[in-house]
Amino acid sequence: MEKEKLVRAAYQAKEFSYAPYSNFHVGAALLGESGRVYLGCNIENAAFSPTNCAERTAVFKAVSEGERKFKAIALAGDKEEYLTPCGVCRQVMAEFCDPGDFQVICAKNETDFRVYTLQELFPEGFSPENL
Ligand code: THU
Repeated sequence: MEKEKLVRAAYQAKEFSYAPYSNFHVGAALLGESGRVYLGCNIENAAFSPTNCAERTAVFKAVSEGERKFKAIALAGDKEEYLTPCGVCRQVMAEFCDPGDFQVICAKNETDFRVYTLQELFPEGFSPENL
């Protein structure tokens, strides 16, 4: 799938973001090896710590529906800045993705984005291979 299409899907996913506390709306579109795309948004909570990032929403949706191998994820926010994933989401990606292959597409807007491998964003991370 083209990266542009995945980025557009991430911006669509952002529409469902529930972020009344931070007002920082995020969308994610995760491409599974099956070709299926899973959308996610951030979901905040009045108690703050139960907040779930858009990336993890997408990964957990996918895993809960039986898909465990992924090719890429696109991230979209409201600001005109490349949106990169938080450390917790990088850790969750490392559980299910091959760090050298998995592409993290960090969008600034619908046509401008940077592509990293998970390995670049999460070097020397702890993963199932370390157990
Ligand atoms: N957030 C994400 O959903 N993904 C990121 O990559 C960065 C942060 C969310 C969590 C919280 O709801 C809000 O953005 C502010 O941190």
